[in-house]
Amino acid sequence: MICFSCWLEIVPIAAIASALLTYVYCTRYYGHWTALGVPHTKPAPLLGHFAGPTMGRESGTITVDKLYRRFTGHRYFGVYQLRHPMLVLRDPVLVHAVLATEFSSFHDRMMSRTSFEHDGLFNSLVNLRGDKWKAVRAKLSPTFTVAKLKAMFASLHVCTGQLADKLLLLTSGGQGIVNVTDISSKFTIDTIGRCAFGINCNTLFDSNTEFQRAGQAVFTPTRKSSVLNFMRLVDLGWLVDLFRLRSMPDLVYEFYSNLFQDTLELRKNEKEDRNDFVSILIKLRNDEKKNNSRVELFTDDVLASNAFIFFAAGFETTASAMSYCLYELALNQDIQVELRKQIQHTLNENEGILTYDVIKDMKYLDMVLNETLRMHPPGPGLLRVCTKKFKIPDSDITLDTGMKVLIPTYSLHHDPAYYPNPELFDPLRFTEDNKASRPNGTFLPFGDGPRICIGLRFALMEAKTGLAEIISKFEIFPCKYTKIPIKLNPRSILLTPNEPISLLFKQIV
Ligand code: HEM
Repeated sequence: MICFSCWLEIVPIAAIASALLTYVYCTRYYGHWTALGVPHTKPAPLLGHFAGPTMGRESGTITVDKLYRRFTGHRYFGVYQLRHPMLVLRDPVLVHAVLATEFSSFHDRMMSRTSFEHDGLFNSLVNLRGDKWKAVRAKLSPTFTVAKLKAMFASLHVCTGQLADKLLLLTSGGQGIVNVTDISSKFTIDTIGRCAFGINCNTLFDSNTEFQRAGQAVFTPTRKSSVLNFMRLVDLGWLVDLFRLRSMPDLVYEFYSNLFQDTLELRKNEKEDRNDFVSILIKLRNDEKKNNSRVELFTDDVLASNAFIFFAAGFETTASAMSYCLYELALNQDIQVELRKQIQHTLNENEGILTYDVIKDMKYLDMVLNETLRMHPPGPGLLRVCTKKFKIPDSDITLDTGMKVLIPTYSLHHDPAYYPNPELFDPLRFTEDNKASRPNGTFLPFGDGPRICIGLRFALMEAKTGLAEIISKFEIFPCKYTKIPIKLNPRSILLTPNEPISLLFKQIV
């Protein structure tokens, strides 16, 4: 038996040994960038360059942006995401290579199936890799062709009508304060529900729908999701699988799996093909069954995951673009007046009716939205993993398979080299001439290359139609609840404000 005094000696030694082991484990790769001669700053012990975001003190976007500025003049720099090295690109030529021209060396994002073994909604386009991604993407690409978007316009029209009705209700005395973060996300949930799934979500008028609760739960970081992410980043993802853990709250998995199954059931008895996203999914599955395909691609898992991602990736991003746009228009009254003039002019020329083509003709609206997406890109960074050894041109550096690469969209969009006076909201940056004068890789709100956002056209049509409806009917101003400047939520992976955006709306009579 070990005596008491022996224990007194063993316990501190064991504590020191395990602290040392943890330190060695966490800092094991910290010599990587020095060895390759890649510029970098000293990482904080254990947490690398992301101590602020990991502790919830600072948004990761701001952390990366500070480093981006520090390395002005360099084409790239290195960081450590907790244990692991990650290369951050500054040079638009390299950015374009990674996203587009050298796609075969960077065709995947970072997520791997390990640590998501029990996540029934993992197999979406966002996470799929290699050939499987390619096959699914090719089949889902026809979801938002111009012809389909035109066919969806009637459904979108119903939603913009409801949006206007809701805003008239909130300003029934002629004016009122509107939480535009909330209203925009309700509008985009209703729209994607109706246009892609043929469902009336009614979140604009029913403040407690499951759609909104499940939708918000996807993007609201919890203590559990933060801990699981941390475990993944320190290579303890296998423990997540071992204990059969899942990142999002249970209600999200139940809601989206049921939603898809219920929609399938309802469609069974319908004679007419709705030609929307769900009918594409049903056709894909039926074709596979009919052809007795050897490799089953559209399993229940893949179908439910993609139904989920079209909802989840679609609503929060578009809502973010709309609410930031309204915020900038409230702060820049001259631009708001000019935009209203042009919207009303186009509407007058088209008997007051919005159609897909009328929206496409609103050039200034396009410029205003692009400038919003420049200043406030909903996805502030793009992630890729090196899938085939890649030598960085004009350097001695070769990236090995598995190396993580970050493209700092937010920082490129705020770089004065491409956008002089970057904090100024100036839609004229997006005239045809000005757009053509900037290099590829400097405007990436939807990413680029084969993995560019699949919902881009739908998102633009939806946001522009919603904004045209609002701006033609309401004047918008900052109010005492408007936070200027906006502070970012340190725990969100999107460019989410810390507090919802509230603005004063006045009806135009
Ligand atoms: C303003 C609104 C939106 C923004 C700013 C946005 C932004 C993005 C970005 C930055 C990416 C990553 C692209 C890359 O890695 O190169 C992406 C991917 C994706 N987005 Fe969007 N998105 C929006 C709306 C939508 C909508 C409406 C949908 C679906 C209805 C959607 C579905 C997707 C999907 C499925 C992917 C993964 C594509 C793939 O890997 O093949 N997004 N989006």
